Amino acid sequence: MGILSLQILMLILGIVGLAFAGMGVDIIRYEIESHTSPPEWPLGLRPPADWHGLPLLAALAGAILVFAFLRAFANGLYGITTARLVQGDIVVGLRAQLYDKMQRMDFRFFDSNASSSLINRITGDVQSVRMFVDAVLVPAVIMVLSLVVYLGYMLSIHVPLTLACLAPMPIILVLSMWFSRKVRPLHLENRKKFDDLILWLSECLKGAQVVKAFAFEQRAMEKFQAKNQLYREQQHQIFHTVSLLVPAIGFTTQLTIIILLAYGGWLVIHNVIPLGAGIIVFAGLLQQFSGQISNIGGIMNSAQQSLAAAERVFEILDAPIEIQSRPDAVKLESLSGRLAFEQVGFQYNESRPLALTDINLHIAAGECVGIIGPTGSGKSTLLSLLPRFYDPTQGSVQLDGHDLRDLNLERLRASVGVVFQESFLFDATIAENIAFGRPEATRAEIEEAARMAAAAPFIESLENGYDTRLREGGNTLSGGQRQRLALARALLHNPRILLLDDPTAAVDTRTEEEILAGIESARQDRTVLLATHRLAALRHVDWIIVLEGGRIVQKGTPEELAVLPGYYQTLATLQGELR
Ligand SMILES: Nc1ncnc2c1ncn2[C@@H]1O[C@H](COP(=O)(O)OP(=O)(O)OP(=O)(O)O)[C@@H](O)[C@H]1O
Ligand SMILES: [Mg+2]
Repeated sequence: MGILSLQILMLILGIVGLAFAGMGVDIIRYEIESHTSPPEWPLGLRPPADWHGLPLLAALAGAILVFAFLRAFANGLYGITTARLVQGDIVVGLRAQLYDKMQRMDFRFFDSNASSSLINRITGDVQSVRMFVDAVLVPAVIMVLSLVVYLGYMLSIHVPLTLACLAPMPIILVLSMWFSRKVRPLHLENRKKFDDLILWLSECLKGAQVVKAFAFEQRAMEKFQAKNQLYREQQHQIFHTVSLLVPAIGFTTQLTIIILLAYGGWLVIHNVIPLGAGIIVFAGLLQQFSGQISNIGGIMNSAQQSLAAAERVFEILDAPIEIQSRPDAVKLESLSGRLAFEQVGFQYNESRPLALTDINLHIAAGECVGIIGPTGSGKSTLLSLLPRFYDPTQGSVQLDGHDLRDLNLERLRASVGVVFQESFLFDATIAENIAFGRPEATRAEIEEAARMAAAAPFIESLENGYDTRLREGGNTLSGGQRQRLALARALLHNPRILLLDDPTAAVDTRTEEEILAGIESARQDRTVLLATHRLAALRHVDWIIVLEGGRIVQKGTPEELAVLPGYYQTLATLQGELR
């Protein structure tokens, strides 16, 4: 509101200044050509009778100066006020909303949306949406307001002259509409190109080791440069389109000046309107009017840019969340940890073959089940159905007799601890990383979890122990150390169900033994699913399933499987440890 009243004030001050200037011209004319009629004073104002010529002009000039000063002051104030609006809650609120939504999205969403695109939406696109207020809405309101005032003033001077001068304006309208339609897809394309650029950048940063190991720097640079260039060229295309509109509008507004000179000049010569208060003021008004009109190009461009950004932001905000608690979801008070897979089939997306087919599995509470099979056979996929990272495309997965989809999601995830195949650690201390799922955990609990995961010795050997700060992704630790921290993190959670995805893949035999001992002691009262390629890791399991191509091909205790030809037997023979 403040903005609008300031604008109105500025408008009025500008117009009064213009009127005074026109009057000045008429005073001069009256002085040199006394046969012309004296200037008319508006609103019954009248200078003292003994003021003539120069003193009068000086007084007018002084008044114009005061108005100009007031206008400058209002303008400054306007700048400050809009700055506050820009910094306002819009961006912060929208960004928070977007972040919150992204956090609640499921894995399928992250599979199909590149991280760079998501980051761009949360950062750049949100800024562009904000632009709608300060580069579109506010200027458009100001433009309309000014145009109405200028138009009113022009009409009050001479109606036919106004209409004649504004006759070329519809051309601008048509041009702007054409422009709008053309530029939006360009802006959308532009954002996608930028996503692409950032994706390559972030991949090269994350994969810096690979880039160096394969001496890929030069080609990475070329690829980056190509994307960079593509982005620039596309941006040029937008500038091109914009730069077509601007001169067209400029030309059209020049036409109005020609009309003013011809028709307005004729009116002055025939004494229909005065020179100063008529044509000079009119010229000033037309100039202001055209100035406002020529903003249309910029406003339209900003509008299309922010609408394109809004489209991308709302694509996320409106995306359905497939995996969430139903309103009538069951909050199980106590869990036994009995699991069942009934006719489960799963497909990551339509273009892929089924990753799991006909899975039927019953696991009693407290059992420890090994899952083995060649790489790509679906072990990780099977585990990911239990915390509902994905929902099965066919059949149902059940916990204590309830379909997972009927359970409260938060409660479900709190009772499932996961050690991923590739463990991710955050840029925080070791203690904070272990207590990730339970920030309120005491130091004693953290140390106990670390001890169970066989992580305590190496943590204690670090200079700052549990307070050692890890770098992004835990890059400063060895693979085995990361895995043990991940295990400690899962154990501190005290989950009823523990999912271990190849927890000993990256460690030596001795550490493997320590981790296995840790798992063994953590097994009590828990249902454990352990996917592995290592025979040793299967020592404590009650029974094993063998997956191949997403199907269960064998099931049985290690003893049973050892005497049947199949994956387990091969594994046992190769790893030379048939029990
Ligand atoms: N996010 C995903 N999107 C599409 N397909 C996927 C995705 N993750 C895995 N797959 C595919 O699903 C199949 C099963 O993969 P999964 O990761 O479950 O195998 P795995 O048995 O855990 O293998 P490994 O022993 O190498 O860990 C593979 O063909 C894989 O390419
Ligand atoms: Mg796997």
